[in-house]
Amino acid sequence: MRIVLLGAPGAGKGTQCMRIVDKYNLLHLSSGDILRQERANNTELGKKAQSYMDSGALVPDELIVKMMAGAISNAPEGGFVLDGFPRTVNQASALDKALEAAGQKIDVVLNLVIDDQIVVDRITGRRSCPVCGGVYHVVNMKPKEDGLCDKGCGQLIQRPDDTEEVVENRLANYHSQTEPVVGYYKDSIGVCDFDAAGAVDDISGLVFKKLDSLS
Ligand code: AP5
Repeated sequence: MRIVLLGAPGAGKGTQCMRIVDKYNLLHLSSGDILRQERANNTELGKKAQSYMDSGALVPDELIVKMMAGAISNAPEGGFVLDGFPRTVNQASALDKALEAAGQKIDVVLNLVIDDQIVVDRITGRRSCPVCGGVYHVVNMKPKEDGLCDKGCGQLIQRPDDTEEVVENRLANYHSQTEPVVGYYKDSIGVCDFDAAGAVDDISGLVFKKLDSLS
């Protein structure tokens, strides 16, 4: 199964992806996580991406498409969930072409729909584990021990782009550059919308029902 998961920053893409990959044994390909790893490893790509990410701008398409094409080509037969990619119509079209060349296609596009104000609360309260990628929230999804990852990895961090000011910029870029991707898929393979304002388990339940209906 090859899945694209769309949604605004903070809509809950990472949170839902963790559950989807666990249940269906798929590879989680998060463009944001891959970029953060490149930065941590101080690679050329990581250095180029840094200023865009810190200001909440999108990293240029040519860098992202090359990075994600490489990750997808190494994905196992069972399939993957794309989280945070594609984020522009150019990226979506490049993805289609790369998959077509490999005799593959996207099976389903899931879209988490949410209000901007909820997103700001979620992102500014998010705490992340830099080791395992676990995601928490200071109110909605507290770790068992304050500030520490439940999996024993150590201290949780606040991402540098999770400030209110940067979130406003990320949201503006989402509306201008990523919302058209929803339209792109609506005009091709179709999009399944999910209300992302509810409880995590309720959203996962609806997503699983949709994915079960495909297999
Ligand atoms: P990226 O890392 O992809 O960030 P994002 O899309 O902005 O998404 P987030 O990770 O912020 O949120 P999420 O939807 O995964 O929410 P989460 O589950 O964590 O990208 C970062 C940057 O990298 C970009 O700004 C850009 O610069 C660059 N980049 C990445 N991909 C790119 C691309 N393709 N092209 C160009 N540039 C690219 O949840 C958020 C919080 O809410 C958490 O605290 C969570 O605990 C909580 N929460 C989740 N669900 C619920 C719920 N149902 N109820 C209550 N709380 C919830």
